Amino acid sequence: MPLGGEAVATDPAQVARLWEANAVAWTALSRAGGDIYRDHLNTPAFLRLLPPVAGLRGLDIGCGEGTNTRAVAALGARLMALDVAPSFLAAAAATEAADPRGIRFVRGSALSLPFPDGCFDFATSFMCLMDVPRPEQALAEAARILRPGGFLQFSILHPSFTGAGRRVLRDETGHAYAIELREASLPDGAIERWRFSGAPAALRDAYPPFQVPRFDRSLAWWLNAVAGTGLRLAAAEEPVADPETAARVPTVADTRIAPLFLILLARK
Ligand SMILES: C[S@@+](CC[C@H](N)C(=O)[O-])C[C@H]1O[C@@H](n2cnc3c(N)ncnc32)[C@H](O)[C@@H]1O
Repeated sequence: MPLGGEAVATDPAQVARLWEANAVAWTALSRAGGDIYRDHLNTPAFLRLLPPVAGLRGLDIGCGEGTNTRAVAALGARLMALDVAPSFLAAAAATEAADPRGIRFVRGSALSLPFPDGCFDFATSFMCLMDVPRPEQALAEAARILRPGGFLQFSILHPSFTGAGRRVLRDETGHAYAIELREASLPDGAIERWRFSGAPAALRDAYPPFQVPRFDRSLAWWLNAVAGTGLRLAAAEEPVADPETAARVPTVADTRIAPLFLILLARK
């Protein structure tokens, strides 16, 4: 199937192909520092919220090129990591081989986790569950593989402030002074094309834009979906750049006006 012409992708296999097509560029650009929000805001907030994981058996769902997986493993967890895109897994496994943290990588889908019920103490998922065609099924799968008392912590694009109509308004110095939110209702699976603006331009321009199908849901939808799995919401976080981070990394300063990410922690 050609990649590039479609306006929407709702079939899980089609979505997986798009992620595979993104993987090489995503890996190169994020490892070159292009994923500014991840590195300077979202992952630090995620790790601050994460309960102790030392000695626990965990699964990272939608691990991508594995930087975040490795950060959790560095806290002492015994990790498996799963992704739908082979090129992401290859990049993550190569890093693991060069500098082992005991992570085992598996190809599979969040919609049908290849593990028995109750076999993990915890699961993490960094910025993946809003990317799957049936997020309620992915939540149910994550809940299924947890033991009683286990936890799921996941981050997603903030459902209230990151619709397709979000635009950051900046003054002539680049200072973000407002967020514009317009009505822009997209069909499920609408493919958004974009680049990491923070990557070095020469490297960024060497690759075509990412193609990311969107499966937007409301905040209430996510809270109800977590409750629907039988998990109990234990904590929530909307990472906001502190003044020092906003001054040092002006790109992320817009989160002081309206957050870009939501992190939820839920227990079985
Ligand atoms: C925005 S990236 C985040 C990657 C990584 N967790 C990080 O924080 O850098 C989303 C990831 O979800 C993966 N993904 C998308 N659909 C998936 C699915 N159905 N099952 C597992 N992984 C999936 C993609 O291949 C990609 O690696």
